[in-house]
Amino acid sequence: MKIGFFDSGIGGLTVLHQALKLLPDEDYLFYADSAHVPYGEKPKEEVKQYIAEAVRFIFSQGAEALVIACNTATSIAVQELRMQYDYPILGIEPAVKPAVRQVEGTPKKVLVLATPLTLQEDKYHNLVKRLDSRDIVDSLALPGLVRLAERFDFREESVRPYLREQFAGLELCKYGTVVLGCTHFPYFIPVLRQLFPPQTQFISGNTGTARNLKAILGGRTSLGSGSGRIEYYASGSRVDDEVLLSQYAGLLKRLDPIQ
Ligand code: DGL
Repeated sequence: MKIGFFDSGIGGLTVLHQALKLLPDEDYLFYADSAHVPYGEKPKEEVKQYIAEAVRFIFSQGAEALVIACNTATSIAVQELRMQYDYPILGIEPAVKPAVRQVEGTPKKVLVLATPLTLQEDKYHNLVKRLDSRDIVDSLALPGLVRLAERFDFREESVRPYLREQFAGLELCKYGTVVLGCTHFPYFIPVLRQLFPPQTQFISGNTGTARNLKAILGGRTSLGSGSGRIEYYASGSRVDDEVLLSQYAGLLKRLDPIQ
């Protein structure tokens, strides 16, 4: 089966990485909307149009299921897309629920890191409200990490000063669990670990999304008919540039020891 993976940029690879572990015998179409990244700092209506265009393209290429591997796009568009298409469409949301469970019964709190757009959406606020966890959940937007990732800049000397500045007003030792609510963020786990106390947990919705994908597709006749091949698209154009392809492959490898 051909499964589409969509993100504004390279963040979606952190979810695809998990899907490849659970569903190695499918084919994948990975679409990064590189012409319009970052989504998280743009007006919602503009981003919605980019998403609609990308999703139309992905299904036109024969994908039979879609993972919106982007918390921002999920929060603003997943419901409408599900009404428009008959194919299974999965989204990803900040893993607040398991994070709250992890700190329950301890004096620690949860810190949710995401894009400005995700944190300002009702979907996020309703999630926190539903869990009755407003008192123990703090959030912080880190759009600078998306920009660094899109430049393939994961160097400590670039990432650390940015994070130090953003974390300046927070007491990091208060947090038992940090939620990576943007799919670009897992690349930065090694630096994040250095800044938080050693016992801090980092979680994302990535493994849960891959598990849901496997469960939802289970039993379909075309399942298992692929070979783990990945076609890459950048905003509707097939990526055939060897340098970029090897950068993508390098990112998937980089994730192996991280998540
Ligand atoms: N990777 C995306 C997310 O999970 C969005 C990054 C961006 O384009 O701002 O929210």
